[in-house]
Amino acid sequence: MHAVPRLRVIIEEDYNGISRAAASIIAKEIRTKPWTVLGLATGSTPLGTYRELIKMHREDGLSFSLVRTFNLDEYFGLPPDNPQSYHTFMFENFFDQVNVKPENISIPDGMVADVELFCASYEESIRKAGGIDLQLLGIGRDGHIGFNEPGSSLGSRTRLKTLAEETVRDNARFFGGEDKVPRLALTMGIGTILEARKLLMLASGAEKAGAVKNAIEGPLSSQVTASALQLHPQVTVVIDEQAAKQLEKREYYRYVEKMAKSVEHDTGI
Ligand code: F6R
Repeated sequence: MHAVPRLRVIIEEDYNGISRAAASIIAKEIRTKPWTVLGLATGSTPLGTYRELIKMHREDGLSFSLVRTFNLDEYFGLPPDNPQSYHTFMFENFFDQVNVKPENISIPDGMVADVELFCASYEESIRKAGGIDLQLLGIGRDGHIGFNEPGSSLGSRTRLKTLAEETVRDNARFFGGEDKVPRLALTMGIGTILEARKLLMLASGAEKAGAVKNAIEGPLSSQVTASALQLHPQVTVVIDEQAAKQLEKREYYRYVEKMAKSVEHDTGI
């Protein structure tokens, strides 16, 4: 049976609410299909989701033993064991605390010599794994998903990308200074992301409200690459009150969710 195409907007009270909601969507996917292929994101936003998934693994037996994962991106020039690399982030905050098999984990290699060959082979491994079932996403203040900065082609594939100044500034907190932030990253493209069967985008806090509004209610534009989500048939956006505050139709989104619950049916937007 095919699900009804929809862009679902779930508004939770706060960060803990979005973390619980996102983890339960991911857990449901894994329980339905234990060999799920997950696309994963780093950054501050998914940390709570990872914490919830670890809790479900420990307390409710959620198993990742057959799960395959592909991360969205990695800084270029950082070796995997660098404390700021997304490799380190993923192992510390998630992989080391669940039973995902190391051979089932893929994260772009920031040290590759032949970038083009590597990017093509990353895409090929996603295809060989059967494609991504559920892709988790955060959103940058400039509306990026992955490191697809404003101006990225909406058909882009995995490639080397120059970080926008705003992103360098935003990520300086992890590096102890702007000058230490790598200027380049390997990232899945928008075209790659759109091929995942389902997308789950999270956002928290007032500083993301503008980006969320542009992504969901703005025009489709390469200047806000998250707006490409509007083209995808199975999108769930989980945001907190602060991140939702610029959405013009937020009362309607709440109403749709209430109706869906009352009729136990998909009333998708
Ligand atoms: C991370 C990624 C980025 C972040 C975005 C938001 O893998 O792809 O798009 O999701 O920069 O970052 P935070 O969550 O730190 O605000």
